[in-house]
Amino acid sequence: MSQTTANDIAATGATINAPAYVKHPKLISWIADIAALTKPDNIVWCDGSQEEYDRLCAQMVASGTMKKLNEAKRPNSYLACSDPTDVARVEDRTFICSEKKEDAGPTNNWMAPAEMRATLNPLFDGCMKGRTMYVVPFSMGPLGSPIAHIGVELSDSPYVAVNMRIMTRMGKAVYDVLGSDGDFVPCVHTVGAPLAAGQQDVAWPCNATKYIVHYPESREIWSFGSGYGGNALLGKKCFALRIASTMGRDQGWLAEHMLILGVESPEGKKHYVAAAFPSACGKTNFAMLIPAIKGWKVTTIGDDIAWIKPGKDGRLYAINPEAGYFGVAPGTNTATNSNCMASLTANTIFTNVALTDDGDVWWEGMTKEAPAHLIDWQGKDWTPAIGKETGRKAAHPNARFTVAATQNPVIDAAWDDPAGVPISAFIFGGRRSTTVPLVTEARNWIEGVYMAATMGSETTAAAAGQQGVVRRDPFAMLPFMGYNMSDYFQHWLDMGKKIDAIGATLPSIYCVNWFRTDENGKFVWPGFGDNMRVLKWMLERIEGKANGIENVFGVTPTFDDLSWDGLEFTEEQFHTITSIDVAAWEEELVLHTELFEKLAYRLPAELEATRVALKNRLSM
Ligand code: GTP
Ligand code: SPV
Ligand code: MN
Repeated sequence: MSQTTANDIAATGATINAPAYVKHPKLISWIADIAALTKPDNIVWCDGSQEEYDRLCAQMVASGTMKKLNEAKRPNSYLACSDPTDVARVEDRTFICSEKKEDAGPTNNWMAPAEMRATLNPLFDGCMKGRTMYVVPFSMGPLGSPIAHIGVELSDSPYVAVNMRIMTRMGKAVYDVLGSDGDFVPCVHTVGAPLAAGQQDVAWPCNATKYIVHYPESREIWSFGSGYGGNALLGKKCFALRIASTMGRDQGWLAEHMLILGVESPEGKKHYVAAAFPSACGKTNFAMLIPAIKGWKVTTIGDDIAWIKPGKDGRLYAINPEAGYFGVAPGTNTATNSNCMASLTANTIFTNVALTDDGDVWWEGMTKEAPAHLIDWQGKDWTPAIGKETGRKAAHPNARFTVAATQNPVIDAAWDDPAGVPISAFIFGGRRSTTVPLVTEARNWIEGVYMAATMGSETTAAAAGQQGVVRRDPFAMLPFMGYNMSDYFQHWLDMGKKIDAIGATLPSIYCVNWFRTDENGKFVWPGFGDNMRVLKWMLERIEGKANGIENVFGVTPTFDDLSWDGLEFTEEQFHTITSIDVAAWEEELVLHTELFEKLAYRLPAELEATRVALKNRLSM
């Protein structure tokens, strides 16, 4: 770690004492410019070492941002609790500032770049006063790999620095890859809470005004006012999805909100599948699932983001650009996801979960019974009785853990392979209590793209705003698209055409829904490890070994087409989650039509034709 003081900056205007190993003049002058604008008291050049991580964590414990958990129970682990107004992504404050409004498209907030720069400039001016600016160099994807891309995040949050060390390949070695003129995505982040001389800091500084801004043409990210998750860890949604999606459009690849898993049959045949579910709809759990059917094995490549490129053989190859998991805590337990629980036994940062009296963590759904007493995520006393009386949760519904991927006991041997893994199937799934059946196979690529494009899902706590409202979330990418959604649909169709044209096999496409409920609002499908039953059917379909029946939307399994070993699940229950209610689907198609009206400009004709064909089949 190398340190510069405010005096250096003030004295020279912009001398920032870059360490000798940073040999990139453009990077250095950009950092000097940002320091001159934001006016931090200090600059710390992060090297990514364990010593640095430990020191920053100790500093945050001293300042009250984090608590160290009981070393005997949860070694080297911490709890951070955020400001109650800064707990999730802020979609209404997220902007795609392309030169032309139509390139951001109707699903994104847009402002002209010049206007946004004029808006942000006064906000960033002096925004780091009284704070330290951390220079955080990181690689999305294996260091030095031809598919990896580099970013440098300048942040006044030490919480961001330590989280980025877990979530990305962060540290000094990035500068070797950058050399003197390598490309990097500049990411500027501030909590937006400058300190006056002598002013006491708060545990979680942030600002009521928030801006999460992307300039896709110049590939820049500017984030103001939040210290939480995707708002602040800029390698994740901002870079690896919003900026990367525009890079993928220009260069012929895909950046997706997808987990990637490996699945091996009892005969030893291995496939890789990628699955897109909206935020807090089951990606981490699916990526680590423990199969309920004997003899099958699931391993994890990634749990949130996939970068997918055509290989020389024409197949699509996927990598996980991240190095850690920033996963949802509530609902995670040893019964439904013991792999995840095993990952969290040490070296983990928890955010907004509850603290137990013996210095460990707890969240709703972790154990059947809550502990007798807790300190909740807002630092208040919590007991089951208080919870019942007030409805207050001990952990925030969007409480998260940050943990290195290497702690996952079922990490796939190829998770770090720069070549990526070949994808046999794409799965798209929303959270729908009604209407959408357990699983449907698209009959062809266009029908699959249509399914993904029109997917609906009930909103969750991962984003600020109302929860449980069905909205269209195309490809689970609505909050993460860096360009026009219709152009993105076209890009998917074009990828299919290209692969088809060279005679390579396209991945099959499936649509799933684990979340249908009964008349009491209870999930009917057991989910989690039992999702293996659906996955098995898909793989056997791909290998031509499983049956299904055609319906108006695609191909679905009958009760007898799935394996029921070890699960009591009646044909009647199966009917509850697979039946197609024509009236409900007619309403659903109205929502497809509304979406297509909104996206009409540059909407691919194939998709509108698919909608019309579907409507006709439904009314037959
Ligand atoms: P992001 O990190 O926000 O992108 O979320 P994610 O898609 O990785 O979601 P995650 O796997 O963390 O699951 C979110 C919530 O859904 C957790 O509370 C899980 O327990 C719950 N969940 C996951 N899979 C299933 C399932 O198969 N059935 C049911 N009923 N719940 C599930
Ligand atoms: C999501 O919301 O989809 C997440 C969490 O994966 S965050 O990093 O906050 O975006
Ligand atoms: Mn996500």
